[in-house]
Amino acid sequence: MRKKIVASNWKMNLDYFGGMKLLSEIIPMLNDETGSQVSVIIAPPFIHLHSTSKLLLAEKNISLGAQNCSAEKHGAFTGEISAEMLASIGVKYVICGHSERRKYFQEDDAFIAKKVFQVLAKNLQPIFCCGESLSQREEKKHKEVISAQVKNVLFQLDEKAIQNIIIAYEPVWAIGTGLNATPEQAQEMHAFIRSLINEKFREKISQSIRILYGGSITPENAKSLFSCTDVDGGLVGGASLNARHFVNIVKEAE
Ligand code: PGA
Repeated sequence: MRKKIVASNWKMNLDYFGGMKLLSEIIPMLNDETGSQVSVIIAPPFIHLHSTSKLLLAEKNISLGAQNCSAEKHGAFTGEISAEMLASIGVKYVICGHSERRKYFQEDDAFIAKKVFQVLAKNLQPIFCCGESLSQREEKKHKEVISAQVKNVLFQLDEKAIQNIIIAYEPVWAIGTGLNATPEQAQEMHAFIRSLINEKFREKISQSIRILYGGSITPENAKSLFSCTDVDGGLVGGASLNARHFVNIVKEAE
């Protein structure tokens, strides 16, 4: 049995006070209304990480994630934040390869692979995102695109490292659009990604790796998506900025 994960991605939203307010709503709600069946990850912007880490010290079921980190280890890289720095304040997960970083910051597979290596080197877990654009899907190239993204990054890892990866399938056309993948589309792609992992690594590994769905998850559609055999939870953007919505999504994963 794979334990489900519901991860939030606040993206570039909420100033310090807004972030603290949201956490002060989410944490007690999660404690009152959910058990330990689902692992929750909160990935706020960098400025929130240290204070969030302190707030989560007593929480067994809620962990801290970062939305990004440097592909370099340390040194003269103005403005960058390393995996080592993140690890030092209690971050456990780092989102790598999100489509917004691929699109707006020209991150390619080789660069993402470098980041994934840095994250793993500090014993953090990458949440590796992959996903096709609308035109790629319309041209029926979605499997080809996902296959290349997965192979160019995850196939570079060894058997030990791959076991620390969480994958997020996030079709670009579903992110922030209100147009989520249907459960059938999600299941098809998740099973496909699992088969790729199986092809390269052992069956046992492909069966244990968590593959999250991301793209316009709401409390209303969460249940049908999370009940697909190969969907092991979700990466939630917009809906994670509303405590009630986010907690309801976690409850659907239970
Ligand atoms: P969304 O974002 O839930 O707002 O579609 C998901 C994501 O980008 O991770």
